[in-house]
Amino acid sequence: MEMELRDRDGLARICRFGDVETPALMPVINPNLIVISPREMKEKFGVEAIITNAYIIWKNHDLREKALKEGLHKMLDFPGLIMTDSGTFQSHVYGDVEITNREIVEFQRDIHADIGTILDVFTEPDFSQEEVKAAIEETARRGKEAKRYRGDMLLAGPVQGSIYPHLREYAARKMNALDFDYYPIGGVVPLMENYRYAEVVESIIHAKMHLNPSKPVHLFGGGHPMFFPLAVLVGVDFFDSAAYVKYARDNRLLFPHGTRKLEELKYPPYYSPILEKYELEEIKEMEDEERVRVLAEHNLYISLEEIRRIKQAIHEEALWEYVESRAREHPQLLRAYRKILEYGKWLERFEGISKKSGFFYTGRESLKRPIVLRLKKRLRRFKSQGPVISVPRPWSRNLERLPKGARVRTPFGLIPLELEDIYPVQQSEFPWEESLELPEKFEEIAPEEFDLKKIRSIADYQFGKGAGAALFTGDIKIIKSKNTGKIRNVIVDGEHVASLRAEDGFFTLRIQGAYRLHRKFKFPRLRVVVNDDSAQFNKQGRNVFAKFVVEMDANLRPGDEVLVVNEKDELVAVGRTLMNREECLNFQKGMCVKVREGVDRPKSSLV
Ligand code: GUN
Repeated sequence: MEMELRDRDGLARICRFGDVETPALMPVINPNLIVISPREMKEKFGVEAIITNAYIIWKNHDLREKALKEGLHKMLDFPGLIMTDSGTFQSHVYGDVEITNREIVEFQRDIHADIGTILDVFTEPDFSQEEVKAAIEETARRGKEAKRYRGDMLLAGPVQGSIYPHLREYAARKMNALDFDYYPIGGVVPLMENYRYAEVVESIIHAKMHLNPSKPVHLFGGGHPMFFPLAVLVGVDFFDSAAYVKYARDNRLLFPHGTRKLEELKYPPYYSPILEKYELEEIKEMEDEERVRVLAEHNLYISLEEIRRIKQAIHEEALWEYVESRAREHPQLLRAYRKILEYGKWLERFEGISKKSGFFYTGRESLKRPIVLRLKKRLRRFKSQGPVISVPRPWSRNLERLPKGARVRTPFGLIPLELEDIYPVQQSEFPWEESLELPEKFEEIAPEEFDLKKIRSIADYQFGKGAGAALFTGDIKIIKSKNTGKIRNVIVDGEHVASLRAEDGFFTLRIQGAYRLHRKFKFPRLRVVVNDDSAQFNKQGRNVFAKFVVEMDANLRPGDEVLVVNEKDELVAVGRTLMNREECLNFQKGMCVKVREGVDRPKSSLV
């Protein structure tokens, strides 16, 4: 079973994994004590995957025999994906378990778990580095052993490492080399329980850095909805939740902003069908069993709803904004968010060139998002010395005379006037007003000259220094929108080279533009290299699938325009990539480049 990327916002992603759409929450089912039945989970709550504990089943004679006879799916009456855990958590709680790694892996296989887990060694937060290292070595040894007994079952290889980033990395590299199907991040429950969220995000990040990006990542025990947005932002695909029932037993209600005790709740802050059905007083007076059931339903509903909101935010490419608003719910979440921002340079590799949603400023952290780091880095390519001005948007279209070399003062820093339309400069909202400030005297630039400078500057920003001159030299005809006055198409020597997108201010390349950049930039710049099986189809304008990609420019970002070439570096197509290099080289399923034009089938042009 392979992950297929469907939608993304940075490292956060919506994937298909078999019949499951991620990010997904697997409710924990305790087969000894079922509060909401797996079938109800599926039919009433739309749950696509559940997790249960193979060790608990194995320890109970009747359950064990039943599971072996009927298989897990029949026994639990669940027609979706079932993952099992191995007993590691019980060894963390009770100190030990009465089963070996081989036995529990074989048992999971024999009861037909879809995903089984090795008996990893739990790394506690107070372990010394030596203890953690030894636990990682033993976990890897058991992982290797488990691969021999897994049968057809997918195998989860947890990444341990406690609170030590370098040991998380060590564990991730070791487990990755063993090529598991699924990577849980383990050993974080005690950190979660103590609100040590910054250490949890750090653990996730250091693991993700060394795991194959096409593999699912699960946060073991990260079941509080408060933490879901941050975890998804750094690439978590699966959560499990025992919290929905654990908190219910304790008369506590989960909300995306935290937990409330039933007796303290007077004005429920969120809708849930359960709280609508009953008055709070009615719930308080229920018999234990009924009350636990009602609260568990509420908790599960809220948890699943939070996953849906996150997915919608990914779909809108507005997850950073969503996380920033959520991070204000608890100081430790804010601390964790600030920790994530320390990894901006690495996170930038996964950030799209632009987003469907505008950049919304929610506080000073906003200006540290990876997309702003990129903007600042690329702006270093521009060495303008002209006057510093302020001007309300849309900038040049508000100016009667254009100051030569002007730089506009913005919250992102000084931006050359000709880069006014690129994302996120123009597509941003700040909680303050824009003003007009021009020097009394300035040297003017003629509108035609400004337009030429504009298209060249955008190309230099988007593709690299020198791209503007390579694309736009010769007899240049700039076609503008009659409605907005914005540049739409650029024709050079009678050939349609590129179009400028109204939404994000970047270029869409035509095949003639691709030829020009291919001549200008040497291999591997701007390129995705495909094997010959793929090239013949891409020449006809068909999309590039990730499994045919053999190499790619590491500087390309999701959403970038790319030159599709064969292994002899001959141009075969031009299109837009959905992934960066490490993703394109690792995903086995799904599209890597949406091809616009193949060399053998150029699209009809404006000229
Ligand atoms: N459940 C919560 N934490 C862990 C862990 O580290 N390993 C396993 N196998 N299960 C867990």
